[in-house]
Amino acid sequence: TIARGVIDPRQALAPVSRRIFGSFVEHLGRCVYTGIFEPDHPSADEEGFRTDVLELVRELGATIVRYPGGNFVSGYRWRDGVGAVEDRPARLDLAWHSLEPNKVGTDEFLSWCTKAGVEPMWAVNLGTAGVLDAVDLLDYVNGSAPTAMAEQRRSNGHEEPYGVRMWCLGNEMDGPWQIGHMNAEAYATAAVNAARAMRMVDPDLELVACGSSGPFMPTFGDWERTVLEACYDEVDYISLHRYYQEKDGDLASFLASAVDLDHFIEAIIATADHVGAKRRSSKKIAISVDEWNVWYQGRAESKVPSGDEWPVGPRLLEDKYNVADAVVVGGLIVSLLKHCDRVTAACQAQLVNVIAPIMAEPGGPAWRQTIFHPFAQAARLARGVAVPLHLDAPTHETQEHGAVASVDGVATWDEDSDSGAAFLVNRTPGTTIDVEIDLGAIPGAKVRKVSLLTDDDPYRRNSAEDPGAVVPRDGLAKEEGNLVHVTLPPVSWTVIELG
Ligand code: AHR
Repeated sequence: TIARGVIDPRQALAPVSRRIFGSFVEHLGRCVYTGIFEPDHPSADEEGFRTDVLELVRELGATIVRYPGGNFVSGYRWRDGVGAVEDRPARLDLAWHSLEPNKVGTDEFLSWCTKAGVEPMWAVNLGTAGVLDAVDLLDYVNGSAPTAMAEQRRSNGHEEPYGVRMWCLGNEMDGPWQIGHMNAEAYATAAVNAARAMRMVDPDLELVACGSSGPFMPTFGDWERTVLEACYDEVDYISLHRYYQEKDGDLASFLASAVDLDHFIEAIIATADHVGAKRRSSKKIAISVDEWNVWYQGRAESKVPSGDEWPVGPRLLEDKYNVADAVVVGGLIVSLLKHCDRVTAACQAQLVNVIAPIMAEPGGPAWRQTIFHPFAQAARLARGVAVPLHLDAPTHETQEHGAVASVDGVATWDEDSDSGAAFLVNRTPGTTIDVEIDLGAIPGAKVRKVSLLTDDDPYRRNSAEDPGAVVPRDGLAKEEGNLVHVTLPPVSWTVIELG
């Protein structure tokens, strides 16, 4: 079986925004406490941040990190998290039935971002707080005038404004599980009011309105339309969130999850453009896929505490990922790259311990899950412009998505460094596929390296004891004139580096 493709940078889709390699830190489970922050850990720095985790975050190559939630943000009082740590109150975190000690808050997270070399993406609470609270937070973080908020930041030891550019107007407000959930009309009003006020402080902010928590939401489509009809001129982005998991042993459908993400993204673009067309607007709304990943939602790992139990940093959503999960993550990254003309920000949810590429044992080692690898490779190599592969690939049937292309992929090409990469997924559970790619349009381009993530057992995982069980290994390419041949085993992720 063979698939054929071509890489021609003259047919580039769009520049790849570095922000699509974003991640997410929520006050949820052990993402913050014993994740990024563990003062008693042997690797902790003077602020209590784990330097072993910081090193892995840099290796992962995350560019922007969303904070502080997620569902958490809709019950969060940001003032609890600034000022002298010993004076900060503990609060009930209603979203995750946990205790929030507020040992990490705004200034700590922003300091962590500097150490990690990432841009922060800030979510404001529009569930139980409102416009004034958002404006105060913005003034605390970015204010340069001698206001009470900016003075408070200065007296907390942070003279300079942080200059956070990207702000999310609430989180998943379409979901009945959200604290302060609203219908589309109510959210549209809340979002436009918050956006207008925030822009009065700083017209150059990049603002993200909440879109749908998934295409399965009964309000999907209408939600985006209603929200954008109210906010079109005030926001830059509409968000979408999407998680996937293998259901009932249907590996073939799971491996083709990116087909669903492709449709979801395209449906949102169509809806946004419909609103734009009605307004005769030349402005295009960008898409922020600000939560995406594999997440096994039904499993015990995702069960929140209940009753009188309000633990700090419980083990929650600690999914352990396998080879198939990594291949799906690779496929989802391909989908983001293929839509990079409109998807200019995306956050894998989440970063550490909670449905995460990085795991951190309390007092113990930090290690890479299988899904770490496709993300790290793409974040490192996908530069310049995204280029379609125009794959002519065989198809196979899946229960959830019908007939799908057995191989999916995309390339990137960076003119400045005269280098590029092709990212390929064999999403069949059992068919080996040869791929032939024509490099004729990039004179002189050669294969520098091929790497392959696969295993005879698609369910093999990494663990704290064996973190190297699943890693990308060197693969082979045969070059014949302009043609490159690689063999993709079933359930595999392949990266071809070109230069
Ligand atoms: O990432 C986990 C949760 O998933 C987030 O808190 C929420 O926004 C989404 O439902």
